[in-house]
Amino acid sequence: MSLPVILVTGGAGYVGSHTVLELLNNNYTVVVVDNLVNAHKDKGADLPEALRRVERMTGRTVYFHSVDIQNKEELTRIFNHYKIDCVMHFAALKAVGESCQIPLTYYQNNITGSSVLLEVMKNHGVYKLVYSSSATVYGIPQYLPLDEKHPTGQGCTNPYGKSKYFVEEIMKDLCSSDPLWAIISLRYFNPVGAHESGEIGEDPLGIPNNLMPFIAQVASGKLPRLQIFGSDYNTHDGTGVRDYIHISDLSAGHVSSLKCILKPDYTGFMAFNLGTGKGYSVLDVLKSFEKACGKKLPYDLVPRRPGDIDSSYADATLSKKTFNWTATKGIDDMCQDTWLWQQKNPNGFKSQ
Ligand code: NAD
Ligand code: UD1
Repeated sequence: MSLPVILVTGGAGYVGSHTVLELLNNNYTVVVVDNLVNAHKDKGADLPEALRRVERMTGRTVYFHSVDIQNKEELTRIFNHYKIDCVMHFAALKAVGESCQIPLTYYQNNITGSSVLLEVMKNHGVYKLVYSSSATVYGIPQYLPLDEKHPTGQGCTNPYGKSKYFVEEIMKDLCSSDPLWAIISLRYFNPVGAHESGEIGEDPLGIPNNLMPFIAQVASGKLPRLQIFGSDYNTHDGTGVRDYIHISDLSAGHVSSLKCILKPDYTGFMAFNLGTGKGYSVLDVLKSFEKACGKKLPYDLVPRRPGDIDSSYADATLSKKTFNWTATKGIDDMCQDTWLWQQKNPNGFKSQ
């Protein structure tokens, strides 16, 4: 019997491409739609570079379509063409700072896009979806570790974070309206790292906003120094603490949740944390990266970044209990694999 067909939106991006790899390694048939707003495709190539490499690594085919999920007609064409069993929905804009400058673009892309996708799914009798959410929906933690019962939507300070929260709310309403729907929302903590081969990884546009890719570019000499935002937080060394999770663990979590949602009797809306349950400070990450790259990295202690919090880390027991997933990799693996990816691909997926 052939395994189910999975439609992956945003499958050419960072989390999407690693998950496509994991899906293919588990023998699923994978159809990707991505409008390439944040993914690189060489002129004349059939596939975005990340997916070209995924095909090479797995020896399997990715059915790729350059489609914007806001385009109902084109999405309908995809659903008419393939018999889709489940959707994994990664497509979104994700830059926090940019979302404060162009909030309408973020709300249209992330919320309208999701709502068009859900409508087309319903029109085709496809009721199963795994959604990329974020720990950002928890806002300022009222307690730690953060479990799924923690209130959401309060203290989400930027349009990106709010768009993740609003889409979860839409999905809850949809599941309440019709018991055929089955939606799993995966709340990622801080995904970092790259596939252990160094063939695929995170390829940020311009100067990275997030810590790990920034450190990697300091290590490679592309950027002069790391600025550590805040050294007076209420943490073990004064710098911000986060729950970093290796991208391969994160993609494995998607496949585990997929096996669960594909069970015929699985219905309703459920949210699950994907994190390790451990917090590391900025200085801890820096130390581990220095070990990986074998040199000291220059940094300055500067004032806090607005909107940042002291600490955030997950209680990930519900994912373990429900679909038997736990993270297996630690901060040293995350730094080593980021460094390997950075060295092998100094220009990311671009050839120049
Ligand atoms: P990414 O930008 O690398 O990937 C997103 C992909 O979606 C890109 O390839 C982009 O071209 C595509 N896309 C965007 N809008 C689209 C549209 N309207 N139609 C079709 N394709 C579209 O980002 P990522 O880091 O891989 O994130 C994937 C998902 O995970 C996002 O929903 C993001 O909000 C969520 N998430 C990411 C993180 C993280 O740290 N990376 C943390 C929490 C949640
Ligand atoms: C950020 C986003 C969050 C998103 C997540 C994805 C903000 C406010 N939040 O989370 O919505 O889901 O990325 O992974 O942008 N740091 C430095 N110097 C740097 C960069 C970061 O000191 O150059 C520090 C930060 O202050 C923080 C830690 O490193 O303490 C992690 O930062 P980052 O990687 O940006 O992730 P988050 O802020 O947790």
